[in-house]
Amino acid sequence: MIQTITLNSRPVGKPRLTDFKFVSEEMPKITTDEILLKTSYISVDPYLRGRMSEGKSYIAPFELHKPISSGAIAEVVDSNNSDFQKGDFVSGLLDWKEYQKSKGKGLLKIAPSKISLSAHLGILGMTGATAFLGLTEIGAPKRGDTIVVSGAAGAVGSAVGQIGKILGCRVVGIAGSEEKVEMLKNTFGFDEAINYNTTHNMTKAIAEACPKGVDIYFDNVGGSISDAVLANVNRFARLIICGSISIYNETSIPMGPRVEGVLIKNSALMQGFTLGDYAGKVPGAIKQLSQWLLEGKLTFAETVVEGFNNIPQAFMDLFEGKNKGKMIVKI
Ligand SMILES: NC(=O)c1ccc[n+]([C@@H]2O[C@H](COP(=O)([O-])OP(=O)(O)OC[C@H]3O[C@@H](n4cnc5c(N)ncnc54)[C@H](OP(=O)(O)O)[C@@H]3O)[C@@H](O)[C@H]2O)c1
Repeated sequence: MIQTITLNSRPVGKPRLTDFKFVSEEMPKITTDEILLKTSYISVDPYLRGRMSEGKSYIAPFELHKPISSGAIAEVVDSNNSDFQKGDFVSGLLDWKEYQKSKGKGLLKIAPSKISLSAHLGILGMTGATAFLGLTEIGAPKRGDTIVVSGAAGAVGSAVGQIGKILGCRVVGIAGSEEKVEMLKNTFGFDEAINYNTTHNMTKAIAEACPKGVDIYFDNVGGSISDAVLANVNRFARLIICGSISIYNETSIPMGPRVEGVLIKNSALMQGFTLGDYAGKVPGAIKQLSQWLLEGKLTFAETVVEGFNNIPQAFMDLFEGKNKGKMIVKI
């Protein structure tokens, strides 16, 4: 028998372990054109929280009592499909199952390389592409610009900051602990970093860290951190709204200051980003990120949790900031 994880109930506020259910099922049997996949790594991502709720979004909600799915890497352990051989590793959107069968649609074969397999869920996957495309397509960085990144020590944020440095910008990160602040400066090369959990006046701290004001804000968290950044933007600033994890678990959306005045006075651009809108540009982004990785210009961090049984907890830990870099579960 194999294990699968289904959505047992729609979370209200913070997700709880009881919102997930482990179900035993028979080992799948493959037929014509099918492959059998053994899951190697599962990506847990903040956006999955949105899919656990009902309501219209850019991606359909999970169905109750059906398997949850997310980015994953799996090994082909049996194949009746000439496009895939036993021993291939693939990445794609897969169910939270130990084993599953597939016809291979939507799966990408991972070519053997010096870069670790799990990197294809982070810096060479969805979060790396999000960082690159959000920053370059909406942020349009110019040498000397000041970029502020929230959620800076996470998967997307740590990549954004490093890309900003490669492109010649001054980069300031915001994260939730002293350890993360140190990591931003020492591992990822940010010019400044602010711990929002110990900083009383964020507006002042951002002003001090950005003496020339903020040209680009890459927002992963929303809420009061973003309010403080907004108070420091320059004329023609670009605000990339990528995520708002600080409010994903709120049962009613908290009010903040009105943004219209700031945007008008500064002729600033605020634009929501979803990777799906840039699907055609993802391969180019991944190619550039791989090149920077191989050249040593870019690095990445991962928090790797071991064990299929720990997938729900690893997901919930994202909301407690327990990850540095990409949160991944190794099966
Ligand atoms: N639009 C898109 O296409 C797209 C694609 C990928 C990701 N995203 C979004 O981008 C953001 C980052 O995603 P990721 O995968 O890179 O996750 P991540 O940043 O690796 O992990 C989440 C981090 O969020 C921070 N956090 C949690 N609760 C917070 C709160 N209340 N206030 C401030 N920070 C909080 C934590 O760091 P601290 O310790 O610093 O608090 C935590 O480590 C998410 O909002 C995600 O939904 C959007």
